[in-house]
Amino acid sequence: MEIKVISGDITETKVDAVIVNLFEGVEHPGGATGAVDQALGGIIGQLIGEGEIKGKLNEITLIHTIGKMEAERVVVVGLGKQEKFTYDSVRGVMAVACRFLRKVGAKRVATIIHGAGAGGMDMERAVQALTEGSILGLYTFRKHVTKEPEHGEIEEMIVVDRDESKLPLLERGINRGSVLAEATNYARDMTNEPANYMTPSDLAEAARSVAAERGLGFDVLEREDMEKLGMGALLGVAQGSKQPPKFIVMSYRGGDSTATPLGFIGKGITFDSGGISIKPSEGMDEMKGDMAGGAAVIAAMRAIAELKPKINVTGLVPATENLPGGAALKPGDVLRAMNGKTIEVANTDAEGRLILADAICYARKLGLAPLVDVATLTGACLVALGDICTGALGNDQELVAKVIKAGDEAGEKIWQLPMYEEYKEQNKSEVADVKNTGGRYAGAITAAQFLAEFSEDTPWVHLDIAGPSFIKKEQTYLIKGATGVAVRTLVNVALALAEEQPK
Ligand code: BES
Ligand code: MN
Ligand code: ZN
Repeated sequence: MEIKVISGDITETKVDAVIVNLFEGVEHPGGATGAVDQALGGIIGQLIGEGEIKGKLNEITLIHTIGKMEAERVVVVGLGKQEKFTYDSVRGVMAVACRFLRKVGAKRVATIIHGAGAGGMDMERAVQALTEGSILGLYTFRKHVTKEPEHGEIEEMIVVDRDESKLPLLERGINRGSVLAEATNYARDMTNEPANYMTPSDLAEAARSVAAERGLGFDVLEREDMEKLGMGALLGVAQGSKQPPKFIVMSYRGGDSTATPLGFIGKGITFDSGGISIKPSEGMDEMKGDMAGGAAVIAAMRAIAELKPKINVTGLVPATENLPGGAALKPGDVLRAMNGKTIEVANTDAEGRLILADAICYARKLGLAPLVDVATLTGACLVALGDICTGALGNDQELVAKVIKAGDEAGEKIWQLPMYEEYKEQNKSEVADVKNTGGRYAGAITAAQFLAEFSEDTPWVHLDIAGPSFIKKEQTYLIKGATGVAVRTLVNVALALAEEQPK
């Protein structure tokens, strides 16, 4: 779908459908919705009076214009209560309206900027959110379905605003929104891909094309490289699979050549069977999505390469399968991570923290700081927070706050969990320096405490996306399956830190 902006009058735009809006409780629509109402002889006002249009959030009303306007149809989308309306509501209403119009067969659609008029929002941010919601909401994953879809595609979306002087600013918002949403959809594609199509090698090849197409630095560490570096924890997990592990390194250099690069690390388990501590078969198929953190990092690097902030960023993705092959890691085995710390493998299903341990050590060796890791790390985080939000833990409160704010601006909810010293007790081992499980209590926290053994004094935030990375039911602009969560948060972190760089 192409999105462009024109200055003009929505009642004179010749398209298959125009999208206007109404806040809940408004009886006489004003602005663009009022103009459309007038062109249609007052039908919107009449439907409000009859109670058919209430303006409830995400409510859709279709009106056929039968020659009274250039556009063939008008969709009135409800914005809900004005005091509750946010940039994230803009994403949601656009997703719902676009899916509705796709079903109706519309190819060319025009919209006004929801929230910009009576809503009093910043125009650039509102149009960015509008763009994101439209692209994210129309996402489908049909790569392996040979049957033709029942619906066509919306080919063009025209954003209409009266004020010509706003065009450059609106174009900027549309550009940023489409870069972020397309990158998110790319992360969704990688994550939805079945594990037989998304092995560690496939993930590395996907990252390689992203890097080649967008001019990023790129490298893959092979098994021998990992051996030389002493990545015993990552290699331990990889032992049980025939697929060779890959350690993906992507770099963007937009800042001063001497400035310390920001480091992103994404968990890249392309399939998590649990290993010898095997998972129950029910729901195991969802573990094809255990590389959602890795996908988020690769997709964020892609968006950063397009938006070109003045900062250096390096993305790391340790990738392997976790399978119970003949050479697999066994409960009780002891591994040695890159920083020399020894780990008792109490449970082979706690593999994420093992591969992240070596990735964090490698990030420190490269001198990256601060670090943000993204991982579908614990079922415990899913139990604690559900699929609504990401869990955040870290060793630097200021950094945690920045990451949460970056998420908030992206419409991605992040909730901090505590890192009290007392939790460390649960990771103590009698045979090694630390063990990879901390028991049933506070599982998301003990996992983060384990990672803290490897980030040491480098400022670091861990995002546990086990909940929101994969959803079972559509929620406005999130489609069932992989959500691409954290892509937009990571990009916003890079954009925000770029603003802080010495000029
Ligand atoms: N990939 C899983 C966590 C997960 C669970 C992600 C559900 C998404 C949905 C992770 O590798 C795992 O298996 N964690 C174990 C750790 C335990 C053995 C300490 C868990 O959470 O059960
Ligand atoms: Mn696991
Ligand atoms: Zn896992």
